[in-house]
Amino acid sequence: MAVANLDDVRAMAARRLPKVFFEYIDGAAFSEETARRNVADFRRIELQQRVLIDVSRRDLQVDYLGRRRALPIALGPVGFSGLFSERGEIKAARAAHAAGIPYCLSSFAITSLEELRAATRGTLWFQLYVLRERELARRMIETAIAADVEALCVTVDTPVGGLREKDVRNGFRSLTKVTPRLALALARKPMWCARILRHGIPEIGNLAGLPEYGSNALEQAARLAAHIDASMTWESIAWIRKLWPRKLVLKGILNAIDASEAVRVGADAIVVSNHGGRQLDCASSTIAALPRIADAVGSDIEVLLDGGIRRGSDVLKALALGARGVLLGRAYAYGLAADGERGVARVIELIATELDLQMAQMGLCHLRDMASRRDELLRVRGDVSA
Ligand SMILES: Cc1cc2nc3c(=O)[nH]c(=O)nc-3n(C[C@H](O)[C@H](O)[C@H](O)COP(=O)(O)O)c2cc1C
Repeated sequence: MAVANLDDVRAMAARRLPKVFFEYIDGAAFSEETARRNVADFRRIELQQRVLIDVSRRDLQVDYLGRRRALPIALGPVGFSGLFSERGEIKAARAAHAAGIPYCLSSFAITSLEELRAATRGTLWFQLYVLRERELARRMIETAIAADVEALCVTVDTPVGGLREKDVRNGFRSLTKVTPRLALALARKPMWCARILRHGIPEIGNLAGLPEYGSNALEQAARLAAHIDASMTWESIAWIRKLWPRKLVLKGILNAIDASEAVRVGADAIVVSNHGGRQLDCASSTIAALPRIADAVGSDIEVLLDGGIRRGSDVLKALALGARGVLLGRAYAYGLAADGERGVARVIELIATELDLQMAQMGLCHLRDMASRRDELLRVRGDVSA
């Protein structure tokens, strides 16, 4: 089947993956209201059509985090990507590199940072969950420095783990070992089992050699989640700032007060994010929260956004409302599950192609300074759900 958009890719991912993993990607916290809003609020924004402007030469490059990037897109951290496709983190990072964009490795990755660095010369970011055992955070930061990681993304919206009802029903994450029920679910996808399990039981790469965190990915994820430091404050970020000499990004900011604090502690960028609706349910969508945050921080800090990006037009809307770039989450996870590295490349291509064609229809030759022309470029229909 020809793949025309993200819905097609998602459908293919649903066919390939065991249900427990597809629903882990697809699901969100509690009633999934925030996850729905993330997508729906983009649809309330109208782009302005402009005509008879020479758009024959177009440039999709933008600058963020101190460098020129081929596209205003990065691949965000998605845990367990190595379970969606064999060596999934490496495949996603290679697809990102080929497209000229950064890839952010999750703390919950199957591939370790060292392995990933050995497999690609691409630009890597690393996402850190700060644990009660600060020593592990310190070690991971040292590993990231050695692996030539460009930016450390500290996720700040997870003082406690989100409760996702699909995962509860599937028994995912409450498990510490493969139960007969899970084994049966996996056996329904023999191709997946053959590919993923041929290297043995998967582990979280960055925890290898730490038996206290368990010996398989499920056990390690459960222990890691339980060790995330719920007492973490802005002072913890100041501690990380001292340890990490390169770009520091705080991921999971949803209001202007926290954005201003991020400026105060010396972060280089924030990601306006609600974790794809996987944490606080009934929170605002990210696109609705973006303009107020961007207006509050001005040029004091760079603003990125994730949540609900499924189309090139979503990227244009985010840029016009004040983001320097966006991170993909589920979009590329579906691509990875559907067709490995090719699937991720196809997702990036789908979004970039739409972005390119739509910007031309808006009379734009480049993506710079869009926010200063916000009123000219788009109109928000009705109330966004903030
Ligand atoms: C399957 C899955 C796993 C994720 N794992 C992580 C993670 O390990 N660390 C993190 O900071 N965010 C994680 N996220 C959140 C994403 O980085 C991102 O914020 C979110 O997916 C954006 O929303 P979208 O999926 O609608 O694009 C995960 C998201 C998904 C869907």
